[in-house]
Amino acid sequence: MILVIGGTGTTGRAVLHTLHAHGVPTRALVRTPRDLPPGVQQIVGDAADPGPLRAALTGVASVFLAMGNGPHQEAIESGVVTEAARAGVGHLVKLSAPGPADSPVAIARLHHRVEDAVRASGIAHTFLRPYAFFQNLLFHADRIRATGWFPATTADTPLNMVDARDVADVAVAALTRKITGTHLLTGPEAISYPEIATRLTALGRPTRCATVTAEQLRTDLHGAPTWLVDHVLEIQHMATTHPEHPNDTVAHLLARPPRHLDDFLHEHATAFGAARG
Ligand SMILES: NC(=O)c1ccc[n+]([C@@H]2O[C@H](COP(=O)([O-])OP(=O)(O)OC[C@H]3O[C@@H](n4cnc5c(N)ncnc54)[C@H](OP(=O)(O)O)[C@@H]3O)[C@@H](O)[C@H]2O)c1
Repeated sequence: MILVIGGTGTTGRAVLHTLHAHGVPTRALVRTPRDLPPGVQQIVGDAADPGPLRAALTGVASVFLAMGNGPHQEAIESGVVTEAARAGVGHLVKLSAPGPADSPVAIARLHHRVEDAVRASGIAHTFLRPYAFFQNLLFHADRIRATGWFPATTADTPLNMVDARDVADVAVAALTRKITGTHLLTGPEAISYPEIATRLTALGRPTRCATVTAEQLRTDLHGAPTWLVDHVLEIQHMATTHPEHPNDTVAHLLARPPRHLDDFLHEHATAFGAARG
C-alpha cells in the first residue's frame, strides 16, 4: 500500500492517478472528501491531526509526501516523518526543493530541515528537488489572456522549469522501483520569462513580460499571503544570482525526455488566450 499525502495537489493528484492506473494499491489522506479514482482508499483528515494521520499510515509500505506550502508546513511534515517511522513505513518519497541548506529561499531551508528529519528517522528515502513547475505559469494566465502582459523581476535570466507531471512520473518511479537518493529535477531547457512571452506570442497571444522591481512585484501581488510573496521574490532573486542549468535526471530516471514547455503552452493555449492552440 502506498499513501499519498497532498493527493489533491498539482503533483500528488498526478501521482495518485498514475499509481491507480498501474493497479498499485493506493491510499490518500485528504482534508475534505474528494472524488478520487475508484479504488483509491480515502482517509479524511488533516495531516496535522495525529488520529487520521496514524490511520492513514497503518499498513503502508511507502509514502509520497507532497505537502503544500504554508505557515505550518515544517511542523506538519516533521509530524508525518515521526508517525511514519512509528508505523514502520519502509520508504518515504518527499517533494522537496532545490538550493543549499543555507539557501536565501526560506522554503528551501525548510525543506532541508525536513530532509534532515527524514534522514534521522532511518526510513529509506528519496528527495525530489524540482525547479519551478510549468504549471505555475497558469497563475498568470487570466492576466495574459485579458491584457497580454505579466511581470517578473528576473529580466533575461534563464530559469530551469519542469512539468509537474514529470515530477509526478519520477515520484511514481521512485515509489514503485524503490529508487532512493536526492534528485534535482529540471525540464529540457532553461528559459527566461521574456522568452516565454515570445513563445506565447508565436502561439497566437501577443504577450510581453515587463521587468519590474521587487517592490513593484510586491505591490502587484498585493492580497497574496506575505510568505508567498516573499517566496516568489526569493526564488526570482536566487535565479538571478545562481545560474540555472538543465540536467538529464528526468530523462535518465524515466528513459524518455522531459516534457517541453512549448507542448505545455500549446495544451493550455485557450487559458492564455492564444488562437493557435
Ligand atoms: N510549485 C513549484 O514550482 C514547486 C517547485 C519545487 C518544489 N515545490 C514544492 O512542492 C510542494 C507543493 O507541491 P504541489 O505544488 O504539488 O502541491 P499543491 O498543489 O500546493 O497542493 C498541496 C497539497 O497539500 C495538501 N495539504 C496542505 N495542507 C495539508 C494538511 N494540513 N493536511 C493534509 N493535506 C494538506 C493540499 O490539500 P487540500 O486540497 O486540502 O488543500 C494539497 O493536496 C511544496 O512543498 C513546494 O515547496 C513546488
